[in-house]
Amino acid sequence: MSEELIDADIRVARTLPSKFYFEQGAFDSLKSVFSGWQFAAHKSEFNANTILPLNHIEMITGEPIFITKDAQCISNICTHRGMRLVPKACTKKILQCEYHGRTFDVSGRMRNMPEFEQAIEFPSEEDNLHQFATSTWSGMHFSSQTDVEKLPWDKLEARLQFLDIESFVHDSSRDRDHQISANWMLYVDNYLEGFHIPFVHPELNQALDYSGYETEVFEQGVLQIGKAMQGDVKFDLPAEHPDFGQNIAAYYLWLFPNMMFNFYPWGMSLNIVIPVSPTETRVLYRGYVGDKELAKKGAGSILDTVETQDQQIIEQVQKSMRSQAYDRGRYSPTREQGVHHFHRMISRLF
Ligand code: FES
Ligand SMILES: [Fe+2]
Repeated sequence: MSEELIDADIRVARTLPSKFYFEQGAFDSLKSVFSGWQFAAHKSEFNANTILPLNHIEMITGEPIFITKDAQCISNICTHRGMRLVPKACTKKILQCEYHGRTFDVSGRMRNMPEFEQAIEFPSEEDNLHQFATSTWSGMHFSSQTDVEKLPWDKLEARLQFLDIESFVHDSSRDRDHQISANWMLYVDNYLEGFHIPFVHPELNQALDYSGYETEVFEQGVLQIGKAMQGDVKFDLPAEHPDFGQNIAAYYLWLFPNMMFNFYPWGMSLNIVIPVSPTETRVLYRGYVGDKELAKKGAGSILDTVETQDQQIIEQVQKSMRSQAYDRGRYSPTREQGVHHFHRMISRLF
């Protein structure tokens, strides 16, 4: 399929054909894109433990990986006969396999193995645990199972660096786990436009100045900027910030294919989108608080309501995708640049 499936000119382009949202073949052929960069953990998640199994990455890609406090992402599979090594978060300094007792240090190097004295050329490099690529920005750790280009933080720094994300603290009372009867791309499509806010989110519409909503696209993602109503909670931007002087309520950052970082004056919420089947998606929410008082006010405080409204809409749209009468729509040139950009990215993969 050529890139021209989605025309570069948004004014004439048509949306992804509906079969992309329910066919097993389309779903399967997109699986490999998830083994690139994935959010692994935020620094504050290591307050109680030094080793965390990355269960969400295993749900997304099938690969068992753990991360250490010094941000190494390491295979969670014993190199002897494949037993799971670290079943749950812990503070261990030596990892011992529960099957036949092989031990590793926390950087994945094999230390000891009983009954292998007569084994020849043992141990070798292959007996150490596999290391995956890791990248850290502002206290957020990412892991990749493939060689991919680096994450685009340099392009985002001017806007986001003032936030001091590193100092945020994970607040598990804000975490959620949603099961949605819809394709993962419908969830992403919906996230990438504020067009529906006045129609679907009356409460959020009170908190955001819809007329000032902005969308910027870049190679690996989309940044949306929500403006606050006069007198509402907004970011306290430094003078050198590109948006200085504007009332910004939220920065909504999506990184391809499935990570959404929502920055509010109170901190950050994160949506990790997990494709389960062509018509089922799981979305993990995590909250990281920078300012507890502000967390009660502004566009970030009605997250649960907004999420339910979004899910109800996309579950209805999922059912419509099988209609014989509907296949493709058109984009609003002023309000759906993000969706258009995402569909272009998807179309390049076929
Ligand atoms: S599988 Fe781990 S020691 Fe055998
Ligand atoms: Fe929404």
